[in-house]
Amino acid sequence: MRFTSNMAQIIDGKAMSKEIRLELHQELKEFVAAGNRLPHLTAVIVGEDPASQTYVHNKMLACKEVGISSETKILPESTTQDELLQLINQLNTDENVTGVLIQLPVPDHIDERTICNAVAAEKDVDGFHEINIGRLALDMEGTIPATPLGVKTLLERSNIETFGRNAVVVGRSKNVSLPMAMLLHSDGRHSIKGLDSTVTICHRYTPPKELAKFCRQADIIVVAVGKPGLITKDMIKPGACIIDVGINRIKDEKTGKFKLVGDVDYEEVRQVAGHITPVPGGVGPMTVTMLMHNTLKAAKKQNATRLLNV
Ligand SMILES: NC(=O)c1ccc[n+]([C@@H]2O[C@H](COP(=O)([O-])OP(=O)(O)OC[C@H]3O[C@@H](n4cnc5c(N)ncnc54)[C@H](O)[C@@H]3O)[C@@H](O)[C@H]2O)c1
Repeated sequence: MRFTSNMAQIIDGKAMSKEIRLELHQELKEFVAAGNRLPHLTAVIVGEDPASQTYVHNKMLACKEVGISSETKILPESTTQDELLQLINQLNTDENVTGVLIQLPVPDHIDERTICNAVAAEKDVDGFHEINIGRLALDMEGTIPATPLGVKTLLERSNIETFGRNAVVVGRSKNVSLPMAMLLHSDGRHSIKGLDSTVTICHRYTPPKELAKFCRQADIIVVAVGKPGLITKDMIKPGACIIDVGINRIKDEKTGKFKLVGDVDYEEVRQVAGHITPVPGGVGPMTVTMLMHNTLKAAKKQNATRLLNV
């Protein structure tokens, strides 16, 4: 509901995350009270990328908030692919480890796809394993990557109508945009409960004029590119819902300090849009929260499999 001006309603990912983390905490308490092992998440960072350290730190804080046990293993930049694979193998077979997260990007001498596929599919709480991506493509239950699952949850809990609507996904990465497009276009009657939109995917080779044209037809835009100011006011259909996944660190001309912004020209676009996510405080916290959701879900699944094998 909009009460005052024509400004877009802000979708507060931070507040929604807080609410969901409380729900997850309650769910976890009940799971453990029923005699189940406390879920445990192990995160692995290779190298010293400060952004990776911050992201993993936030994930560990969220574990604490929800009550999930967690640890971070930091390996030197010089770690070989074989050494990393060996560690993943140990974690895969460790009964006390529920979820394994290899923070991306890994250094250039390590092949990202090989690493994502090495994590056991049932412990792949990032949803990047080929089996999990394949299951998503086929509308089958599996682990859904945290960022697109976070966006889906934001849309659903904000009561944004997606059925039969036009959606544009800007970006075509395999970890964010592709699973996002799959969730948006797929059938709501299937087990992953798709959003039934008509989806257009734009990417770096979509000519700017075409990008603007597709965006202007969209009821929902999800942008995940990494270019500040890419989506401008003139590209927005009045009342559209704008989800900004982008995270860019830029220098504030006024203060000289660094700040985080998304891919959307927020101040201008919010004058035309119906709903909009801020950066920070929109998709970011939801990504971390969905990782918690995936870890608890993995614990429940692993527990059910263990019981079957007794
Ligand atoms: N908020 C979160 O939780 C979260 C999670 C993951 C990624 N991100 C952020 O989202 C952004 C995208 O991440 P990613 O991993 O998908 O990145 P990526 O670099 O893998 O993909 C970027 C995509 O943008 C497209 N692109 C580049 N220039 C374009 C242009 N001018 N017009 C249209 N498309 C263009 C490319 O084709 C590519 O598919 C980054 O800023 C990243 O930091 C945020």
